[in-house]
Amino acid sequence: MPTETLALNGGTPIRSASLPAPYLGTSVYGREELDLLTEVIEKKLPFREYGDGTPHMVRDFEREARAYFDMPCALATATGSGSHYCAMAGVGVGPGDEVIIPSFGWYTDFEAPVLVGATPVFADIDRSLNMDPADFERKITPRTKAVIVVFFQGATNDMDAILRIARAHRILVIEDCAQACGATYKGRKIGGLGDVACFSFQQNKILSTGDGGLLLARDPVIFERAVRFHDLGFVRPSLKAQFGEEHVPEFSGCQFRMNEFTGAVALAQLRKLDSAILDVTRRHYRNLKKRVLEECPGLKLRPVGDADGDAGIAFFMDFGAPSRAAEFAKALSAEGIRVGPSSGCCNLLNTALVQKKQQVHPALPPFGPGCPGENIRYSPDQCPQTDEIVNSMVCVAIAPPFTDADLDDIARGIIKVWRSRT
Ligand SMILES: Cc1ncc(COP(=O)(O)O)c(C=O)c1O
Repeated sequence: MPTETLALNGGTPIRSASLPAPYLGTSVYGREELDLLTEVIEKKLPFREYGDGTPHMVRDFEREARAYFDMPCALATATGSGSHYCAMAGVGVGPGDEVIIPSFGWYTDFEAPVLVGATPVFADIDRSLNMDPADFERKITPRTKAVIVVFFQGATNDMDAILRIARAHRILVIEDCAQACGATYKGRKIGGLGDVACFSFQQNKILSTGDGGLLLARDPVIFERAVRFHDLGFVRPSLKAQFGEEHVPEFSGCQFRMNEFTGAVALAQLRKLDSAILDVTRRHYRNLKKRVLEECPGLKLRPVGDADGDAGIAFFMDFGAPSRAAEFAKALSAEGIRVGPSSGCCNLLNTALVQKKQQVHPALPPFGPGCPGENIRYSPDQCPQTDEIVNSMVCVAIAPPFTDADLDDIARGIIKVWRSRT
């Protein structure tokens, strides 16, 4: 088959106009969000607990989230990071405990254990771009109390293996679902697989409120501690109903409450998460995958834990080597196809970053003798696969505003560049 001249070499690009911005939740904002926001304004009830009437947005969101994710307890938070800090308090990790986190994750995955005085220990990723179960098992020590598993850009790793290893070693599993809200693993919603789950509703996320988060928990005591930590040690009426009897004495906490405006948008978004967002991204993803795999023999995609459960927000191609991926990305961008996911992660084992993040507060000592993590020394060779795997992938983001014509251009761009390879 004759190959077309690449735009990179002076040929006509597949697209001259940019693709729509790959925003997910915010791109489907509409009447539903406005109606609930209007109710908050008209009733003048922006605080979740009291006012002249009955505030119900955050409480309804938590109730519907419990049903959607099939988890017994749900706590809405002001940010996704806030839900992580509450998760740390909930599972009760602290000085002397180790928390295993993936080398490729978000800053919060490192900071949350550090802020409670626990020690993050890195496990490498596999080609799913999520934690490698074999390296997770290698990094377990008698001090390991919890593992944070990140689901990067809508898809899982081999969660059966992660859960099996964690259970065998009595390690609590925290799912970081910030970039995969609504994705499933073997028929179950992620967020309902482990002990605790954290979500972010920041602007780039699948469900978006600008900023916001959610914590799910299975165990009522873990949940009560998280609730208390999120609200200065208190349990207020709208949350008390979720765990009945109080088991935990009051303690100092932070303030990560979600307000009713955020709750209103979160509620409207949750109600249309499947119909307006995921049904669309998944349909586009399936069609793109079928066409590209038919027309690009040999092209490999990111191997995920359960392809059927993928949220469909990012089409990752695995070129097996960073140099080949970089060449492909450059040629595809020149064709007018935007390359890159809608929300990022980074190699957290980057030494400079880790050194900076270990300094918890200017008045506190960094990790070192006599401090948490005393015996931990970080260096990139602890997770040698991370950079190679991440840089071998090329991704095209998919979002609800994309039309069939946009997806046709993406497919034609990928096929054109693939066929032109020498
Ligand atoms: C994987 C992951 N975890 C946690 C967070 C933190 O969420 P937030 O920005 O809402 O605090 C993010 C946000 O980008 C994320 O991508």
